[in-house]
Amino acid sequence: MRRETLTTGARNSRFARRLFNGLPERYDRLAELLSLGQNGRWRRAMVDHVVAGEPRLILDVATGPAGVALQLAARTGAKVVGVDLTETMLREGKDNVARAGAQKQIQVVLGRGEQLPFADATFDALTFTYLLRYVEDPQETLRELARVVRPGGTVANLEFLVPSSRFWRFWWWGYTRLVLPVAGALTGGREWFRVGRFLGPNISGHYRRYPLSWTVQAWREAGIDDVGVRTMSLGGGLVMWGSRARA
Ligand SMILES: C[S@@+](CC[C@H](N)C(=O)[O-])C[C@H]1O[C@@H](n2cnc3c(N)ncnc32)[C@H](O)[C@@H]1O
Repeated sequence: MRRETLTTGARNSRFARRLFNGLPERYDRLAELLSLGQNGRWRRAMVDHVVAGEPRLILDVATGPAGVALQLAARTGAKVVGVDLTETMLREGKDNVARAGAQKQIQVVLGRGEQLPFADATFDALTFTYLLRYVEDPQETLRELARVVRPGGTVANLEFLVPSSRFWRFWWWGYTRLVLPVAGALTGGREWFRVGRFLGPNISGHYRRYPLSWTVQAWREAGIDDVGVRTMSLGGGLVMWGSRARA
C-alpha cells in the first residue's frame, strides 16, 4: 500500500516537473497577464497574513521563480527558504533573488512539499502557492507542511478556485477552456498552450475531489487552527490562512 502511494506520488512529481520545466523564463509576466492581473493581488493578500505575525524565518513551498519569497523577504525582513521540485524554476528563482540583491536573505532548496528536509517546528511561518493540485495526497501533504511550523506560527496559501456563482462559473469556464489555451499559445508558445489547456480541467477536477469545505477540514486535521478563507476575483482566487496548533 505504502509502495503504491510512493509510486503515484513520484508520478505526480514527474508530471509537475515536466509541466513547469519550460516555463520559468517568462513565468512571472505571463502568470500576471493570463490571470488578468489578479495573481499579484492574491499574492499580496496571502503575504498580508504572514506579515502580521512578524516572523523571523519563513518557508515558501512551491516557490518557483521566488516571486512570493521575494515579497515575503521585502515585507517582513525575515530570512526565507524557498523549496521547489523543478530545477529550472529554482534556477530562475536564484537569478531573481540575485538580481534583487537578496542572496543573504533568501535561500532556495530543491525538494518536495510532501517530504520536507527540515526538522519539526523549524519555521515561524509557511506559505505555499498552487501546490495541492500537484500532489497525490493533499491531506498528507498538509500534515507535512504543518509539521515544520512552530506552534502559533502562520500558515498561508494561495490557490485557484472554481467560482461558486453559476453566472461567474459560466464565464470562468469559457475563459479557462477557450481563452486561456489560445492566449497561452499566443504569448508563450507551445509550453504555455499546454499549461493553458491543462489548468481549467485540472482546477475543476481538483475541487470535484477536494471541495473547499473538505480543504478547510483537512487544514484542521493537519493541526492548523483558526482557519480563514477569502475568495477573490469573483471566486476565481482563494487565499487561506491559519495558525499552527499549540500542543
Ligand atoms: C504555478 S507555480 C507557482 C510558483 C510560485 N509559487 C508563484 O506563485 O509564483 C507552481 C510550482 O509548484 C512546484 N511544485 C509542484 N509540485 C510540487 C511539489 N510536490 N513540491 C514542491 N514544489 C512543487 C512547481 O515546480 C512550480 O514551480
